[in-house]
Amino acid sequence: MPPKQGGQDQDKKPSQRRRRGGKKHPKPDRAASPPPAAPAPAPKEKAPPCARGGRTNPPKKTDPALEEDSDVLLAFGALLKTGDAAACAAHARYEAHEDQARFIEDARRLLAMSAGGRAAPRAPPPGMAPPPPPGMPGSPRRAAAPAAPHPRSTSPRRPPGLPPGLAPPPPSVDHFPPGLAALALEVHSEAAPPPGLRPTATDDQDVAAALSALIGGPAPEPAKPKFKWVPPRVHKRRGGRVAFSAPDNTKGPLRPRARLDVSWELKVDAEGAVGTRRDVSVGLFRVGAPTNDAAIVAKQGRGAVEEVGLARGTVAFFAPRAAGAFVFRLLDPEPPGRQQISKMERPKASSNVYATSDKLDVIVRTHDDLLDSLKASLQQLEEPGRSRLGALQQLAVVAETLPASLAPKRQTHIGGRAGSTAEKRCRDKLRACLARCLDELAKHVPGPLTLATRRRADELPFHEDETETDVLKRERAWSVLSEEDEQSARDAFEVERVTKIKKQRNEDRRARDVHAACRRLCAAFNGNSASRQWLESAAPEQARRLDDVSTRWDALLEEFWPGGADGVAALRRHYDRADSFFRPTHQPSAQQHGFAWRALDDACARVLPQLFPGDAFFKRREEVRRRVEACLNNADVLGNGQRLVLRVFGSSANLFGAEGADLDMCVVPAEKTDKDLTSPEVCRRMGEALEQAGAKNVQVRDTARVPIVLFEDPATGLDCDVSTHNPLALRNTELLRAYAKVDGRVRGMAYVIKKWAKIRGINSPSDGTLSSYGYILCVLAFLQTVPQPPILPSLQRLDLDWPNPKDPNREPPARMPHPFDPSRDVCLAFHDPDKLGSLKDLREIAGRNRQSLGELLALFFRHYAWDVDYRNLVVAPRTACVLPKANKAELDCWPQNPHLAIEDPFETHYNVAHVLKYDKHQKIRKEFMRASKLVDDAAAQRIDPDLALDYICEPLPQEE
Ligand code: GTP
Ligand code: MG
Repeated sequence: MPPKQGGQDQDKKPSQRRRRGGKKHPKPDRAASPPPAAPAPAPKEKAPPCARGGRTNPPKKTDPALEEDSDVLLAFGALLKTGDAAACAAHARYEAHEDQARFIEDARRLLAMSAGGRAAPRAPPPGMAPPPPPGMPGSPRRAAAPAAPHPRSTSPRRPPGLPPGLAPPPPSVDHFPPGLAALALEVHSEAAPPPGLRPTATDDQDVAAALSALIGGPAPEPAKPKFKWVPPRVHKRRGGRVAFSAPDNTKGPLRPRARLDVSWELKVDAEGAVGTRRDVSVGLFRVGAPTNDAAIVAKQGRGAVEEVGLARGTVAFFAPRAAGAFVFRLLDPEPPGRQQISKMERPKASSNVYATSDKLDVIVRTHDDLLDSLKASLQQLEEPGRSRLGALQQLAVVAETLPASLAPKRQTHIGGRAGSTAEKRCRDKLRACLARCLDELAKHVPGPLTLATRRRADELPFHEDETETDVLKRERAWSVLSEEDEQSARDAFEVERVTKIKKQRNEDRRARDVHAACRRLCAAFNGNSASRQWLESAAPEQARRLDDVSTRWDALLEEFWPGGADGVAALRRHYDRADSFFRPTHQPSAQQHGFAWRALDDACARVLPQLFPGDAFFKRREEVRRRVEACLNNADVLGNGQRLVLRVFGSSANLFGAEGADLDMCVVPAEKTDKDLTSPEVCRRMGEALEQAGAKNVQVRDTARVPIVLFEDPATGLDCDVSTHNPLALRNTELLRAYAKVDGRVRGMAYVIKKWAKIRGINSPSDGTLSSYGYILCVLAFLQTVPQPPILPSLQRLDLDWPNPKDPNREPPARMPHPFDPSRDVCLAFHDPDKLGSLKDLREIAGRNRQSLGELLALFFRHYAWDVDYRNLVVAPRTACVLPKANKAELDCWPQNPHLAIEDPFETHYNVAHVLKYDKHQKIRKEFMRASKLVDDAAAQRIDPDLALDYICEPLPQEE
């Protein structure tokens, strides 16, 4: 089960793995060795020489005087920490002269003077390795120096052999000189309130921190907490409402600067605390603005409490100067006078949104509007600190929506143009704007001709500029260093390398964004004849350059697709790429493609019986489930003898499972319980119980969104996972199962697509590609929207009493709190045809569509290769119709990028495809294109149609 076994490193090329690790010949990881049973001094023997290509470290020089006085030093550290003036002075003297002998003498004297000093010198344990004085190489301070973010040093290490989740091990101090180790443990025992308890340090870093604090050295950087994304703004369902209207009640799009009245209302607390929400602020934002900080304008919305529990108010606004799509958000009040404070000094705006208005469309209708809009964009392009990308998008919106009546006047004589003054000024401004766009492009994108060939930084091998000789030289230079210095050098090198790559990636991202915005602009100018005329009359040379640029870089970017055969031919000429990356110009027809579709259908009929599982599949899984359930109950993982039940979800229960699929299970309480069944603690206990019962490769992921244990069943070799209570997964399994029963083509398609995705290496969420669940949702959405008539309805939108509705005015299905996220709620209702007896009706409707499985497959590949508007639409089987991405951006903070996005049917705020980064989206899209191209090739007899499915599902070549 590749996605779940091993980390990402396993999929890297060996050379990359090696360099990431920073070592060609890794040394034994001493920190990973079992910790000592008690804080006893180390035995009198030297650390084993490190295996380093046969070389052994020269033994370090040790000063015999110091050897005897090491505890004096440590005790002195404790005294220093108390702020003792004499100790500080002695320490300062040492720092100035580095006279060790004298320092030891002073320290001894001072310690003797400090009666009752808690760190009085003790007899040094035999064989103790001496620590040098503070400030010397290898001194405590050095040992405690902040660890550079080395890949191996950032994650807490667990001693091998100990089952995860057991009581924390005693601190691992075996790589400190024993004196320091003893001190570290002492420090910890001091920190622990009940005397006599074992110290609770959990890691070397803790010990290092304690030592460092003790001797007054610089504290090591605290380990960075794991990044957890929190939405920059949250919609609070508080019964709020915000709406706008034009004073003359104009409906539809408004002109820039049009006057608006914005009215709002909000529920307020009953007990006099009305004031808390009586004052709100109303902000005007571009649709989907990720935070509340980027308001175009925000105003205080003073309201009055007109009814008990409800505050209302009205605020006057003007529409923005530039065209676009906007919304009003109802927010917490801003601090008074905030508008006067510069943007940098403003406090962060609240992330709470109590209501969002409908979309406000602003379009230009007159030359004055156009001029205003262009001025606003130009200002944004020129003013430092403002978003250039935003300005480019803004210009694109103007070009997309410009009415035909605003097309510039025709040429009246050679070299001269007619038109009003306003028109001339518009032309000048447009020219200036375009010049800025091209400047921006030149700044971030290195010349149009290099675009197609430029490799993306993500793909760059690490230290591409380093030759093998350089690497060897570097390794040789490091090999003469002491082990500690070598590690420091490696860490510093790693930090530098990571910084460099991050910088490259940021630059690359920026270049891509600017380029995409320019392509959108170009597409907008080309798609609207009025805008195109403006462009040609204002800046023919700039138009040509923009066009030129837009055909390069990467044909897979969705923002720009020249229509028609001419456009495609131009792309091919410029771009010199394989045919498969260009949109086919003809819609497939039964006449041309019928033969290929039939062949594909036959191939599916051959393959599917092998993929569909038999009874043994379900029986075997049920046995495993029972065994695991008994094991967890025997181990009493819920505590107090509470029983649990394991339920199967995923492909073992949703009718989309094939041999070799993993077995997904989750915990369900057998009886009512107050215990939190979603807690990481339950997960850890399950891991221990399974390990003790002999499960193989047990991995506990207790920090996952839904904590989960992965393991291999020793009896059957099945890959299994048990997650904590996961009602949503159980529910979506039921939903998928219900869809699978409606029509045989649903299962047929899903099996072929899952097989294709696995073989083509695009079905592994841990590698950043899409889960099987994601692909099945894509299949469902396709069957709901593309075939005509559609094969599937949305079972979530279908009335529960369909096809014989009894009460047209019934309440919508209830929502319940989200099981893991108290700030959200979910609706789990759907029409289950099996339970509600409507299966026959649904099958009858699906049967009206006569398209074969082969044809549907071909259309599926084509649809996701070419027809989905990834930038603007979301795949949403909940709605069975297109869902604008802007809505998800506005309500759920989804990014407005051109990546595949899939709405989860129940957790509608959750993007099932959120793991897809730019390159993985491209990879998946290319696979759709490849498959679609192969179908076209089969139709054109360029390949044998009978082998089309084999080619489509051809395994990837093995990587070296
Ligand atoms: P294979 O194991 O590849 O045969 O497919 P599968 O159907 O088991 O799919 P997968 O392992 O991707 O997911 C198993 C189950 O986990 C799904 O049926 C869902 O119930 C649940 N699941 C997986 N991914 C997501 C996700 O992103 N969101 C939610 N809500 N549930 C998910
Ligand atoms: Mg599964």
